[in-house]
Amino acid sequence: MTHPVLVLRAEDAGRMSQLHMRSFDDPWSAVSFRGLLLDNSILTLGIELEGQLVAFAMAQTIAGESDILTVATDPDQRRKGLAATLIRALIDRLGERGVSRITLDVAEDNAPARALYRSFGFAEDGRRPRYYTAGRDVPVDAILMSCKMSL
Ligand SMILES: CC(C)(COP(=O)(O)OP(=O)(O)OC[C@H]1O[C@@H](n2cnc3c(N)ncnc32)[C@H](O)[C@@H]1OP(=O)(O)O)[C@@H](O)C(=O)NCCC(=O)NCCS
Repeated sequence: MTHPVLVLRAEDAGRMSQLHMRSFDDPWSAVSFRGLLLDNSILTLGIELEGQLVAFAMAQTIAGESDILTVATDPDQRRKGLAATLIRALIDRLGERGVSRITLDVAEDNAPARALYRSFGFAEDGRRPRYYTAGRDVPVDAILMSCKMSL
């Protein structure tokens, strides 16, 4: 089943923050999301089920390259293809805007996200040692991934 993809706006900051809280140990506040949603360099896509925001993905584009800032699916709605739908939609829309490459970083121990990105052709091409510390007893490396767009 494919779900309609919405472009999220500043008024969605509160529910994005709620969903982020359910997905990350170091959630971003509604104020932070509002600032990001007001930034014209950032595209934010979301999926609603029965009026509730259940997944979103956010990417910032600077000088023709995009960076995926965050992606989250509600824990009760995972493994239903929602994040994949959003990443597909982001790639398509960024491609239409002439973006040549998409980058991201992901915690080394985040197997679901690494598998998600690999399934879209993202390659692992770098590492930031001990990058993630919040909510962890032991810092975890960030794995840098990127995907070249076929223009
Ligand atoms: C990572 C995350 C966004 C995936 O969301 P999702 O909506 O459940 O993902 P999808 O159902 O679209 O999965 C797409 C593909 O990703 C991979 N994947 C997703 N969850 C996985 C898991 N638990 N284990 C292994 N692979 C997984 C699979 O390749 C999957 O395809 P498949 O179901 O056909 O095998 C979700 O687990 C999440 O919100 N995690 C917490 C926040 C987070 O880590 N965000 C990413 C930070 S970089």
